[in-house]
Amino acid sequence: MDTERLVQVVLPGIVAPEGLEIRHGAVPRAGRGQVLIAMEASGVSFAEQQMRRGRYYDQPPFPFVPGYDLVGRVRATGEGVDPGLAGQRVAALMKVGGWASHVTVDAADAVPVPDGLTAAEAETVVVNGITAWQLLHRRARVRAGQRILVHGASGGVGSVLVQLARAAGVQVIGTASARHHDALRELGATPVDYRTEDVAARVRELAPGGVDAVFDHVGGRSVIDSWHLLAPGGTLVAYGSASTRDDTGSKQWPVLKILARTWLWNTLPNGRRAHFYNIWAGRALGRDRFRARLRSDLAQVFAAVARGDVTARIAARLPLARAAEALRLAESGTVSGKIVLIP
Ligand SMILES: NC(=O)c1ccc[n+]([C@@H]2O[C@H](COP(=O)([O-])OP(=O)(O)OC[C@H]3O[C@@H](n4cnc5c(N)ncnc54)[C@H](OP(=O)(O)O)[C@@H]3O)[C@@H](O)[C@H]2O)c1
Repeated sequence: MDTERLVQVVLPGIVAPEGLEIRHGAVPRAGRGQVLIAMEASGVSFAEQQMRRGRYYDQPPFPFVPGYDLVGRVRATGEGVDPGLAGQRVAALMKVGGWASHVTVDAADAVPVPDGLTAAEAETVVVNGITAWQLLHRRARVRAGQRILVHGASGGVGSVLVQLARAAGVQVIGTASARHHDALRELGATPVDYRTEDVAARVRELAPGGVDAVFDHVGGRSVIDSWHLLAPGGTLVAYGSASTRDDTGSKQWPVLKILARTWLWNTLPNGRRAHFYNIWAGRALGRDRFRARLRSDLAQVFAAVARGDVTARIAARLPLARAAEALRLAESGTVSGKIVLIP
């Protein structure tokens, strides 16, 4: 380990993907309560597309190391941590910091990855899987026989959401570009082309009584249409504002607008509910509870992958040093599945 060097990708400011920098340094030590993880796979998420534009709701000040999640082996344990964890493959949700050859995290934040999953497979469902599981089972609490609308059903979160919903006996209408429609049909969803069709009109045709839940990462005007597509008793879960990625001005405003709308809708006596989901919001419940929930939900998703209910879709594997290319590829919208960075 002494000969090993730390490699990190740094986002120095608002830059094009090619503006990402590579930094070398000494491998950090695991502090008290921490583990040192040697990264095997980290993911490219939509968040990095927003962060490089300075458009992610609560990103840290520049410069910083991006990387929302990672999977790797525990290389060393700090004081107060079970030394038996060494060698174990774990996953960690980080928000930033994952695009690095080595990271330290609190041992309580390292979730074991079951045998039988490769690092890259596991990586595809860390942030995407936790988000999809919690949207479906914690926020909307879907039940077998219900019908839902998933916007961006071809995306990282969306495709896992569709598969988890199908496994739960739920009917799915999913929006995506036409090139992803065959893949969506194979998952058992009814595709709608958001680029060429009037989504609301088409969904009303398919579900005249409305849908039991809508999952909306588009934001802006879409959230209003989504709300009006709900059946009585239905739930809207907004969880992003992808449509405002390239806007200028306040990065918080698009989210605050959705929050204000959901608050207003919930005051109306209409039997429908609206939420804005944030993967980090549960931390307000207390760190231990947040961690326990995250650990249990990710374990459920890993089990779904192991059973074959969810297929890990790896769009490309690129070395960490080619993170710029990976981000450029993610932004091209030409690949489906997760782009994975490897050491
Ligand atoms: N709130 C949270 O805690 C949380 C956590 C994780 C992710 N997110 C959010 O979840 C969203 C998805 O993230 P991801 O990593 O899964 O991104 P992704 O893999 O890039 O997928 C996004 C998908 O959205 C689709 N899309 C783009 N514009 C659309 C529109 N106007 N209508 C319908 N679909 C549209 C694209 O479909 P086509 O390729 O078919 O065109 C793409 O597949 C992002 O907005 C992200 O910020 C939120």
